[in-house]
Amino acid sequence: MSLLLSSNNIGNCELKNKVVMPPMCMYKSDNSAKIKPFHSFHYTSRAIGNVGLIMVEATAIEPRGRISNNDLGLWEDSQIAGHKQVVEQVHEFGSKIAIQLAHAGRKSLVKQTTPLAPSSIPFDTNGSFKTPQSLDLEKIALVKQLFLDSAKRAKEAGYDILELHAAHGYLLCEFLSPLTNEREDIYGGSLENRCRLTLEIAKLLKEQIDLPLIVRISASEWKENGWDIEDSIYLSKELENIGVDSIHVSAGGNQKEQDLMPELTALYQCDYAKKIKENINIPVIAVGLITTAKQGETLLEEKVCDFVAYGRELLRDSNLVFKFAKEFNEKELIDNSYLRAYL
Ligand SMILES: Cc1cc2nc3c(=O)[nH]c(=O)nc-3n(C[C@H](O)[C@H](O)[C@H](O)COP(=O)(O)O)c2cc1C
Repeated sequence: MSLLLSSNNIGNCELKNKVVMPPMCMYKSDNSAKIKPFHSFHYTSRAIGNVGLIMVEATAIEPRGRISNNDLGLWEDSQIAGHKQVVEQVHEFGSKIAIQLAHAGRKSLVKQTTPLAPSSIPFDTNGSFKTPQSLDLEKIALVKQLFLDSAKRAKEAGYDILELHAAHGYLLCEFLSPLTNEREDIYGGSLENRCRLTLEIAKLLKEQIDLPLIVRISASEWKENGWDIEDSIYLSKELENIGVDSIHVSAGGNQKEQDLMPELTALYQCDYAKKIKENINIPVIAVGLITTAKQGETLLEEKVCDFVAYGRELLRDSNLVFKFAKEFNEKELIDNSYLRAYL
């Protein structure tokens, strides 16, 4: 049997295969930040399509932590019911489902609010992004509590796994980078200090919520003197030490001008996943322009990663896993009702 379509665990959660749908914002909610029928069908159709782990898009822990006014949120109890329904539907088809808990930081484009950030540096200077307010220690404590409260709601909704969003230039990522974090307190300066908030939140979630936890990071911000792969290896090791169950290795997003960005060719982020995997013992998820069954299988064979995320490819084709099953000649994995489409 192929590696890609055989099972593996994240923490104590067994996934039926190693195909992951990474979180992708659909911008289909409204100011209520609640699940809409679109989300329900969108995620459930990937479960019908046999995806091992479906990750629900960035879901904000507070209104000003949304990227846009159309994001999902889990900052109040009335938002739980929609998630519960999605989780139940996904479980009906045997997939596991995670939620990505997020705070957009200075990249929030929400109309009514002022964004928060480690330091008061806007994402760009042409006025598209507002100048953020620097968090004081009291607000940092509040952000930690808001992550915990949202995680409790996620647990109540029945999610199998949590993902903490520390990538792509959103709040936690902004704290990690020496270029966006100019603080002089215990949350800024040294690498250890810049990692503190992400580690404190991860620790809080591991201690208080009985669910496996994935942390998503940007392995490099592609900027001179910026956050890079060596920093990511340090952070991944620290996250492993506090009991985090998996690292999801993405890249970029913290800078408007990403001077050192490589050419965006197939597998362009996978080398970061490999370097991190060489340094930790928990599973690593690779992502970024991975589109074929063969690419995924080779990444697993070569121990670049333990799980393979297919983002836009799963937007194009919700039945991607059945196509892979046909390619691997593992037709028993294809839903009976669809089998005649793959003869
Ligand atoms: C429409 C869209 C929305 C996205 N939203 C999120 C998100 O909510 N959280 C996140 O961490 N990454 C997000 N991403 C990044 C994807 O999770 C993924 O890392 C990226 O698309 C690269 O993988 P791919 O080449 O397989 O698509 C988004 C990407 C797309 C295309």
